[in-house]
Amino acid sequence: MFRFRFKNDIGIDLGTTNILVYVRGRGIVLREPSIVALDKATGRLLKIGEEAQKMLGRTPGGIVTIRPLSDGVISDYEMTERMLREFIRRVTGFRLFKPRVLICVPGAVTEVEERAVIDAGIQAGARRVYLIEESLVAAVGANIDISHPDGHMIVDIGGGTTDIAVLSLNSIVEDASIKVAGDAFNEALIKYIKRRHNVLIGEQTAEELKIAIGCVFPRPEQLSREVKGRCLLTGLPRVVTITSSETIDAFEEVCTKIIEAIHGVLERTPPELVGDISANGIVLSGGGSLLWGMDKTVEARIGIQTRIADDALSCVAYGTGKFLDKLGQMRDGTVNFLRRRQLARG
Ligand SMILES: Nc1ncnc2c1ncn2[C@@H]1O[C@H](COP(=O)(O)OP(=O)(O)OP(=O)(O)O)[C@@H](O)[C@H]1O
Ligand SMILES: [Mg+2]
Repeated sequence: MFRFRFKNDIGIDLGTTNILVYVRGRGIVLREPSIVALDKATGRLLKIGEEAQKMLGRTPGGIVTIRPLSDGVISDYEMTERMLREFIRRVTGFRLFKPRVLICVPGAVTEVEERAVIDAGIQAGARRVYLIEESLVAAVGANIDISHPDGHMIVDIGGGTTDIAVLSLNSIVEDASIKVAGDAFNEALIKYIKRRHNVLIGEQTAEELKIAIGCVFPRPEQLSREVKGRCLLTGLPRVVTITSSETIDAFEEVCTKIIEAIHGVLERTPPELVGDISANGIVLSGGGSLLWGMDKTVEARIGIQTRIADDALSCVAYGTGKFLDKLGQMRDGTVNFLRRRQLARG
């Protein structure tokens, strides 16, 4: 009888780089970068999402662009809340009933960080906020059937965090969350070009270069691209040519950290489930998994067949959509997953 009430339940992938909103019955209705632009003097919010992203690194003195989330958690509470409020308003419009909101958080989230997400959601206009672990949602969104006693591994490489989990019987058996993901590749590229070529490039240039020619496994053919930056010796603009094989060197350290984290999770996983994973393969999701050769390097270094999920950037949002049907069985408010699991293990 009250079904109409729940029509506007929404699922939010509150990512460090991108925010996706899934509305029950409508699918993914919003996809925006998690960036805001502010007036420095008054603190007034000028632009949100894509419009703010266009200003990144190109703002005049009076305007700043900030990312209110870093490493998968809220770093600027007020801005996160304002950004969420705007996005929730855009997708729900005016409604008599406030929506119930399901938000994904990284596995290693602390209780304080969880509280901040819940409060931001409530302040932004949610009636109730439910939290769920990103890797669980990513697996379901990648269409992995985790309901059987059969081990699966999902590696979600986002912008700020890489969440690795072994799943069986609808729950997480073993996991790890490291603050190394897509953004770390950009930082590594900036550092490398500075060291090797004495040129400083911007964040946006690094992102474009990474997507255009970057790789973590040798490409069948070498690619190269010219990038503009500031020469550190003269202080003047300079153009340098970067090749794809140089990016392999630049990314090596970051890539190894991700591989080591996967390795660590497998080492802690019960042998039966490791056997299942080697038969089922590893699934990668998140934007970071789109870095060329990520699947190939995981497969080569871990020795288990690896594939990238379809629509890797949207898996988590699709997953929240699937979990919206189960909100009735979930508890709202803070759920400290790690603690809960430790308690369960007794
Ligand atoms: N084609 C591509 N090649 C390489 N990297 C990519 C590509 N497309 C997106 N990325 C990277 O993916 C990252 C964003 O992925 P995603 O949207 O999954 O992150 P997020 O969910 O916002 O972050 P997190 O889950 O860590 O909070 C960025 O670092 C971006 O540079
Ligand atoms: Mg993510």
